[in-house]
Amino acid sequence: MRQKIILGNWKMNGSRALLASLLPPLLRESFGSARVGVCPPVAYLGQVAAIIEGSSLELGAQNVNEHDKGAYTGETSVSMLKELGCRYVLVGHSERRQYFGETDAIVAEKFAIIRRSGLIPVLCIGETQEERDQDQTDQVVFRQIDAVQAHIGSDAFANAIIAYEPVWAIGTGKTATPAQAQDVHQLIRRHIAETAAGDAESLPLLYGGSMKAANAAELLAMADIDGGLVGGASLDSREFIDICRAAA
Ligand code: 13P
Repeated sequence: MRQKIILGNWKMNGSRALLASLLPPLLRESFGSARVGVCPPVAYLGQVAAIIEGSSLELGAQNVNEHDKGAYTGETSVSMLKELGCRYVLVGHSERRQYFGETDAIVAEKFAIIRRSGLIPVLCIGETQEERDQDQTDQVVFRQIDAVQAHIGSDAFANAIIAYEPVWAIGTGKTATPAQAQDVHQLIRRHIAETAAGDAESLPLLYGGSMKAANAAELLAMADIDGGLVGGASLDSREFIDICRAAA
């Protein structure tokens, strides 16, 4: 049995007031064997780390630079994220691919440095509506996975997480049906089993895209859906707690 994992991706949202209203109710809960983490903006990582210290709540970052250190104004390194207490780093989110020009090659470099540092990369993959309409979903997600394996090797996903986030479901309120999500998760797991070294059965596969309290339980009940990467609904403590309860 794979452990369920729920991660909240706050994106570029939040404030000190949000930390104060969102985190204490979350800290009062316990979610059984499920792991729960939050990925706030880098500006709040230190404060969130201090608030959740000693609890089972985990911390993740939304992005990192692909270099160790140096003259890269405005960027954050893996060693900084480690010092701040992060465990996870999202990489290849469709918003980074779309708005910040992150190619499969850059994503692979970021994935590599995250992995080398001992942090856990959460590789985000997924197709656009147009790609789905043209029956290219498998091709797109396999290409995104293969780019990482080509750069790192066939054991790339040994201590990693993959998040399937169909672009058409992100922030749109349009969730993939449990069957649609399960189909792609199963394809991804098969592809990893066929192409990667290591154990595809133990690889956590999260679903992301308009996950909320009302649809979490049915998505999480699917055989190959091991958790969620939650955007909008992670900014509302009631909603987020209910999603985490569905994973417990
Ligand atoms: P929403 O839950 O807001 O659709 O966002 C999903 C997402 O992009 C998580 O990384």
